[in-house]
Amino acid sequence: MGLIASDRWKPETLAQVRADLQALGPDAYRPATWLEEKLGRMRAERLRYWLREQAVHETQTPPEAGHPRPPAPSDDDLVISRWDRAGPTPPSESRPGFARVPIPEDATAEEPIEDVIARSVAQFAREKARAATLGPRQIQMPPGPYAIAHLGDPHLDDPGCDWPELLRTVRTIAATAGMYGANGGDTNNNWSKSGRLAGLWAEQGTTESDAWRIGRWLLGAAPWVYWMLGNHCLWNDASRMYRQLAEVTNAKIGVLAPDDIRLELVSPSGPTVRIHARHDFAGHSMYNDAHGLKRAALFGDWPADIYAGFHRHVAVAHQEESGGRLRTFLRARGFKRFDDYARSKGFVEQEHGAVITTVIDPACTHPADRVRMCWDIEEAAEMLTWLRRRRAA
Ligand SMILES: [Fe+2]
Ligand SMILES: [Fe+2]
Repeated sequence: MGLIASDRWKPETLAQVRADLQALGPDAYRPATWLEEKLGRMRAERLRYWLREQAVHETQTPPEAGHPRPPAPSDDDLVISRWDRAGPTPPSESRPGFARVPIPEDATAEEPIEDVIARSVAQFAREKARAATLGPRQIQMPPGPYAIAHLGDPHLDDPGCDWPELLRTVRTIAATAGMYGANGGDTNNNWSKSGRLAGLWAEQGTTESDAWRIGRWLLGAAPWVYWMLGNHCLWNDASRMYRQLAEVTNAKIGVLAPDDIRLELVSPSGPTVRIHARHDFAGHSMYNDAHGLKRAALFGDWPADIYAGFHRHVAVAHQEESGGRLRTFLRARGFKRFDDYARSKGFVEQEHGAVITTVIDPACTHPADRVRMCWDIEEAAEMLTWLRRRRAA
């Protein structure tokens, strides 16, 4: 018979008590003073406490649930319960017993370890080759001035998406010669289905399938120098969906990639212009929304002329000479307005800068005027049209 377990005792304490009881042997009666000599004060105290609690087991039959507890005996009356005595000795390992028969499948069902290692080596070589292909991409631009409208996060399926401004932007790009779009990421909300954000699907009127239809519409609505995949585009493994949509719709896109895009815009009319665009740049300052972009310019591994950031739903347009190079820093606010999350967190919602447009005139003799920025897309279209006419004359 083993000890009757008590919920109030820790398993390791019960194990110690059990060991003590078994070490004391099969004799039924042990005076308390003898226990203390044998076990030491602490263990004897614990054993006495146990025996006081279990005194009810000194009956002919094991206690049943609900059995009334008898009055606690004094220490001198304590005994080792007959129910606490050691059970029969378990059979030793040396005794003859069963033997495991090897299962033949164990040896034949698994891929030989040499093959697993060879496959892993080949896989690493492929990963290394793929990593070597990542990096700046060159895009051949047409002669003359051109413009790139850097659209901030569209969040097309969000109830707060500023559709009038989005339509004005897309139509202006499509209607203006030499003007191209650039998508900063977070095209759809595409709320993650595996976490607490999943509940937000219920808060928007646009269904998931309609959200993808709108995304497909945007892909074909303008030519895109780059199309970024932001954090929302990567949830639910949606990056595959964007790639496949771009492929089947034959969308005109220079580069489609997640998080980080580096472009060299090669022009026959003047110097190459480098753009480093990220859905977000590391680093943030409450005093300067261009902080992360400037940080990349100062300490990054790829010097660029234009740094374009998104994600934070704030806008900034700033130019300066830094590190011996004239730099343009822009962050587009995006089209999400009336943002409950921003309101609840106390962020001030900005009104301007859903899209920031860079008008680039490669032939401009002064490098500071080679890249100009406009906060209004139609103003940018007019400036570009005038510049193109001027250069063509
Ligand atoms: Fe984002
Ligand atoms: Fe966003």
